[in-house]
Amino acid sequence: MVQLTLPKNSKIKKGKAWNPPPKDAEPGRWREYKVYRYDPDTGDNPRVDTYWVDTTDCGPMVLDALLWIKNNVDSTLTFRRSCREGVCGSCSMNIDGTNTLACTMHADDARRDLIAVYPLPHMPVVKDLVPDLTHFYAQLRSVEPWLQTDSPTPGKEWKQSREEREELDGLYECILCACCTTSCPSYWWNGDKYLGPASLLQAYRWINDSRDERTGERLDDLEDPFKLYRCRTILNCTKACPKGLNPAKSIASIRALMVERGE
Ligand code: SF4
Ligand code: SF4
Ligand code: FES
Repeated sequence: MVQLTLPKNSKIKKGKAWNPPPKDAEPGRWREYKVYRYDPDTGDNPRVDTYWVDTTDCGPMVLDALLWIKNNVDSTLTFRRSCREGVCGSCSMNIDGTNTLACTMHADDARRDLIAVYPLPHMPVVKDLVPDLTHFYAQLRSVEPWLQTDSPTPGKEWKQSREEREELDGLYECILCACCTTSCPSYWWNGDKYLGPASLLQAYRWINDSRDERTGERLDDLEDPFKLYRCRTILNCTKACPKGLNPAKSIASIRALMVERGE
């Protein structure tokens, strides 16, 4: 009989409790965080550690709490961040069951007092809260997200009318945080071949750019049973986007263009 076992790093152990609050602590002052920990160098399974954060000594966002833990309790806790204002897309993780940005998520907006923090789901983990996005970036590169033209380059600039520029609203704001792609069930199953919502939104951003002259080639490249058509309109992507964008709509727009040009 076939023996099926889960990969080692998919079994999560009970972790360490770090800094329980003092017994006489004021009610509501300390907030509990359960944080995923994984260090491939140790050979150990991942674990979930418990930390308490002194809310009187810490900023209001979940990223503030992680920084407080790193600075005051456990310097080995590893996560990405840069801008701390929802611009760079580095601090995306799964918080309180939802993919979002740690720097723009207010701790009081969590559904429970105890806040669970995990890396973005269904990605290999480099360490703790840092997912390996190598494949995600390779897929993004495959849609060639830059301006491509055949006309001679104008002396000053590629011009767009105000209306043409407005066609990029809702697309150019993407910060490539991967919250959408890692929340997509189709991507979980077919992420090796399905491009996922973030890369497809970027593809549409350039298909929809009046200055770009490779629309036909871009559509040809996406005309594939897996790259585009694995989207099942589940809409997790749109729900997850911390910038309020609608990748599912971009995917539907690409499909509509495919139909249009086939008629
Ligand atoms: S709408 Fe498409 S891309 Fe978005 S979550 Fe659903 S299947 Fe994934
Ligand atoms: S569409 Fe939204 S969730 Fe997806 S990568 Fe861009 S900003 Fe992040
Ligand atoms: S730190 Fe840049 S988006 Fe959160």
